[in-house]
Amino acid sequence: MQCDILTLFPEVFEPYINSGILRRARAKGLLELKLYNLRQYSENKHLQVDDVPYGGGPGMVLKPEPILRAVETIAQGQKSKRVILTTPQGQPFNQQLARELAGEAYLLIICGRYEGVDERVAQQLVTDEISIGDYVLTGGELPALTILDAVTRLIPGVLGNDASAAADSFSEVLLDYPHYTRPAEYKGLQVPEVLLSGNHEQIRRWRRYQALKRTYHRRPELLNELGLSDEDKELLSKIKGEG
Ligand code: ADE
Repeated sequence: MQCDILTLFPEVFEPYINSGILRRARAKGLLELKLYNLRQYSENKHLQVDDVPYGGGPGMVLKPEPILRAVETIAQGQKSKRVILTTPQGQPFNQQLARELAGEAYLLIICGRYEGVDERVAQQLVTDEISIGDYVLTGGELPALTILDAVTRLIPGVLGNDASAAADSFSEVLLDYPHYTRPAEYKGLQVPEVLLSGNHEQIRRWRRYQALKRTYHRRPELLNELGLSDEDKELLSKIKGEG
């Protein structure tokens, strides 16, 4: 996948994209990432990219021309493009959207900034306005990194075999089951017996039960998105019976 990011702060991306899975995906050529500084597309002699809002009010608004000019140049020649604008007004980002974006050959992410972005940017070229949650950040850099991270791990070949099995759409709708590692006892706290049993079928069933239980208690609305198997239904009725 090719991904271009348009931002006023390219430097904040560097440590993250040069670490861990993102670094590996880039090294393997599975993610081709480029950062572009919006200021370079300003034709103003002070390299200004924002201005006061029409109608008054606080804050500054990102001007349309530098963004439109930048996208025209950066995405030139891309046949099919997904142009994303990060904004608290966007559609909520989730695993399903991450999966969809991971199937694209090219993404361009525009990081919003300040109090907003001139609406004509969205009208003219944005295909997806995306929010990472119901809170307001100072800018779109963290949302862009969040989207990039979630999408990259779903690109085939980025994760090892085990991890990609866990990343199947079915498991990732549920909250995860509890994890334990050595020691088997820590300050009187025991690792659940079944995990030490070596019985793979029992372990699988215990994990499924725990994942369903957490989801039921913490995020019950997620269960509506899941096609429940007969086993899930059985486990859930046990969980509900426990109160
Ligand atoms: N910019 C500021 N806050 C945001 C959010 N929650 N999601 C996406 N972009 C943002």
